[in-house]
Amino acid sequence: MNRRQFLIWFGIGGIASYLPVAMAACFAESAEAPSKTPTLTNHNKEDTTKIDSTPRPDGFFAVGTITELDQKGQLSQMLNDVIVIRDSETSELIALTSVCTHEGCSVEWDVDKNQFGCPCHQSAFSKEGEVISGPAVIPLEKYEVKEEEGIVFVKI
Ligand code: FES
Repeated sequence: MNRRQFLIWFGIGGIASYLPVAMAACFAESAEAPSKTPTLTNHNKEDTTKIDSTPRPDGFFAVGTITELDQKGQLSQMLNDVIVIRDSETSELIALTSVCTHEGCSVEWDVDKNQFGCPCHQSAFSKEGEVISGPAVIPLEKYEVKEEEGIVFVKI
């Protein structure tokens, strides 16, 4: 075997020995690649439900779990500007836009006051979205909401 043959065989041997390692690395990486489907991950340690928030054919999309809602007091999804609460008197679910009708800031649910408040100019809205105090004059838009098998779905 001359020098040239040795280098050719050495090169082929090197590639052949590296190939399985490279393939294993590629397959392992693709198997762990995150899904392109938007999902909501509940960060609560007791409720690890992953939710696919892709709109269904009926127009409803998942916002979170009932468990998460009851623990946090609200569910919000920035992707669709939705906020969901549970009426403390009737236990019914209420879904509204989280976009303030004054200048578009995100409203926040204040469980102690039982109303939504806007941090930008202090507008206040009832749990049904009606204006309690301005400067906003237009109510928050209300959406259809329902629970199925522990998952909260909203339709805009
Ligand atoms: Fe909400 Fe002004 S943006 S009160």
